[in-house]
Amino acid sequence: MHNVTMIAGDGIGPEISEAVAEIIAAAGVEINWERVEAGAGVMDKYGTPLPEEVFKSVRKNKVALKGPITTPVGSGFRSVNVAIRKELDLYANVRPLKVHAKKFAKDENIDMVVFRENTEGLYVGIEHYVGDQAAESIKIITRKASRKITERAFEYAVREGRKKVTAVHKANILKFSDGLFLEEARKVAAKYKKTHPEIEFDDKIVDNMCMQMVQYPEEYDVLVMPNLYGDIVSDLGAGLIGGLGLAPGMNLGDEIAVFEAVHGSAPDIAGQNKANPVALLFSAVLMLKHLNELEAAARIEKATSAVLNQGEVLTGDLGGSATTDEITEAIIAEL
Ligand code: NAI
Repeated sequence: MHNVTMIAGDGIGPEISEAVAEIIAAAGVEINWERVEAGAGVMDKYGTPLPEEVFKSVRKNKVALKGPITTPVGSGFRSVNVAIRKELDLYANVRPLKVHAKKFAKDENIDMVVFRENTEGLYVGIEHYVGDQAAESIKIITRKASRKITERAFEYAVREGRKKVTAVHKANILKFSDGLFLEEARKVAAKYKKTHPEIEFDDKIVDNMCMQMVQYPEEYDVLVMPNLYGDIVSDLGAGLIGGLGLAPGMNLGDEIAVFEAVHGSAPDIAGQNKANPVALLFSAVLMLKHLNELEAAARIEKATSAVLNQGEVLTGDLGGSATTDEITEAIIAEL
């Protein structure tokens, strides 16, 4: 029995979280879900979108599955998602771009993993107006965080037998901040070159990286980058493997891991039984691997790929008309 915190989130979060819990139970993994609430819906009850209970539970269980949480645009509270990552020091946002269903992928050779720095960059939320005609946002890049995310990317490359790590940046323009990120990435690479010379290292400017990912995805393997680039590049990557409905992710600290999909709360389809639960399900597969439930993880992955490839029960984002419940049942039947 594993104790796992569940933050169902808002928008499509509650629907897809329950679908995922059902599939995991059907695969025979016993999880004691500790359900905690966060997001706009709990403001009235707790006076904050992010109650202390959330942190208490995640710190205790060390593992959480998290649905998406809406962030108001322009005004209103700052991102709960960013606050969770910062408060728990989940410094690595890891988003594997793996092809599970060839028919939805732009190129079946895509197999990349994005390591996005998760605690600083432009997401520190330090902004101010300069009079009423301009505004400034401050981007913070530290040596420590740059080193930690690159170390994590290399550790992963070694453990998973990956061939190449690419640091992604805009150091030609942002010579100080991205320059410093690149300097630290190169130092980590130089260290690994001594112990693991088989792992190649290079760096790419972010705009070029986007084009390369689309044109020559087979050339790329592990990608490591500051926060904002990671956010954008991983959505681009999601598009390459079949869309946001298929792209999983995880937020890792030294001890705590929070698993969540790349997509957001999809307010346009929330509460309509239309959301694709697969991205969160693949995030849960990463969680099961983390919990050493390797056999169940592999079975769920295989059953889900089978349903996707058969193409008969698909949600709207993949061109079908099935409901969340129907695809959930199809995956369970395949298990
Ligand atoms: P989004 O990812 O929620 O939606 C983009 C488009 O993809 C929409 O058309 C949506 O219907 C579709 N989509 C997303 N996930 C889907 C799924 N599982 N099944 C079927 N269709 C799906 O991005 P958007 O609209 O930019 O953001 C909505 C809200 O989510 C915002 O408040 C944003 O701040 C928040 N957000 C939260 C994240 C998190 O909790 N980690 C991550 C990204 C956005």
